[in-house]
This record gives sequence, structure tokens and C-alpha cells, in this order.
Amino acid sequence: MRRPLVAGNWKMNKTTGDAVALTSGLITELAGFTGADALLCPPFTALAAVGETLRSQGSAIALGAQDLFIQDSGAFTGMVAPGMLTDLGCTYVIVGHSERRGRFGTIEDWMTPEVLALFGDSDATVNAKAKKALAAGMTPIICFGETIGERKAGQTDTVCEAQVRAALAGIDNATIGQLVLAYEPVWAIGTGETCDAPEANRVCGLARSVVASVAGQAAADGIRIQYGGSVKPDNAAELLGQEHIDGALVGGASLKVDSFAAIVRAAR
Ligand code: PGA
Repeated sequence: MRRPLVAGNWKMNKTTGDAVALTSGLITELAGFTGADALLCPPFTALAAVGETLRSQGSAIALGAQDLFIQDSGAFTGMVAPGMLTDLGCTYVIVGHSERRGRFGTIEDWMTPEVLALFGDSDATVNAKAKKALAAGMTPIICFGETIGERKAGQTDTVCEAQVRAALAGIDNATIGQLVLAYEPVWAIGTGETCDAPEANRVCGLARSVVASVAGQAAADGIRIQYGGSVKPDNAAELLGQEHIDGALVGGASLKVDSFAAIVRAAR
């Protein structure tokens, strides 16, 4: 049995005060709930305050970051090292979110949904970041997913398989079984459009079979695969009820106590 993991990716939202208020609200709302793991991924600036709030109230909710850099220290202006995250109590870190992958990295894409691309993560940096996260003692949540153009061109499966294979390269089989993957079709992120549950399950199942071929059946049975992309209280139960979907990576709906708590509960 894989335990569901429902993660809130707050993206570039919440000042410190707002972050603490949201965290406190969630602690109250989810007190005593044991049916799933819950994880908060605030912006870097709020990690310390959210971590302190969780710790001081003895909460089981986990703390994670939205990205990390692949060096331990040095002259990398604006970057955040793995050890800085673990220092604040992070046990998870999102890696390769589509808003940081560089597939559409042209200036014309600026301020469009594909703005995402400006951060330039590639299959190689995603793999490097996953390994850095592991070396620092964190669990990477490795995101993969196709764009609308790739879906329309019938390339969903090849794109997802290639991203999963590349992300896992050089990681040992037992460790792969402890990782978290997140299937995030790019066209469903922040758009209100959800991938329907059977199709999301199909792609998560495909990812699981890729894991089996890379790292063996035990790893495939152990790895947790989330779905992300416009998950809301009213579609969470159906998505989370699918065989191969072991949780959710939630953006917009993680910014309010009621909606995020309802999604966490739907994962029981
Ligand atoms: P969304 O974001 O729930 O707002 O679509 C999901 C994500 O990007 O992880």
C-alpha cells in the first residue's frame, strides 16, 4: 500500500504573515487526520516561518521547497543550495516543475503560460537536482508532463517516458522506489482544465511501467506518483481514487485552508 502524498505548491504567493496564517489554519483543519501525508511548499522566503509554525505546533505536515540549485555553495547569485533547505527543515523539494523547464525558452513566450520556460530546466538539470536533493537527505518530487502541442501530436507517451527515464538516470533502484513523481500535463496547470481521471491514471501507469523497466518491479510498486494540474476539491476524489495516482500536487487550490484541506481529506 502506497500512502498518498498531497502537496501544496504555493508558487510565488504569500508573504511571511500570510504564509503563517495559512499554515496555522491547515494545522487546525487537519488535526487528527492520518489518512494521507500532507506537504507544504511555500516560496523560499516563507520556508523558515512555515517550518517554525509547523514545528512549534508539533504538526505532522511536512515542509518542502519548490526548487533547489545543484551546487552546495559558491558564487551563484540568487540560488538556494540543498543544505540551506534541509537547514530549515525541508524534507521534500519539487524538481523540474514545468514552470521551470525550458522547452519553450524564447523571448516571445514571455508572460504567456509558457513563461514557465524561462528558467531553463532540462532533463539533465532535473536529474542533477534530483541527485542533489537525495544527497542532502530530501525526497525529490520529480515533475514530468507533455505540452498541449505534444499531446495533439500524439507524443504524450514518448515525452513522458523520456522525461521519467532521464530524471532517474544513475539513481539506484532501492532509492528510486522511495521517490515521488508528479505527472503534470502542462496544459492542465493553472488553466482550470483537468486531465480526466482515466487518462491521468493511464499516464501515471505508463510512468510506473517505465520505473519497472528502469529499476525493477519493487521500485515501481513503491514509488509514489502524484497527479497535478487544476486539482480542486470537486475533482480530487475521482483523481485520487485511481489505481496509479498516489496523491496530488496542488497549485491554486492549495492557497486556501478549506480547499487544500478538502483535497488532503479526499486522499484518504
Ligand atoms: P494548479 O497547479 O493546481 O494551479 O493547476 C498545479 C501545479 O503546478 O503543481
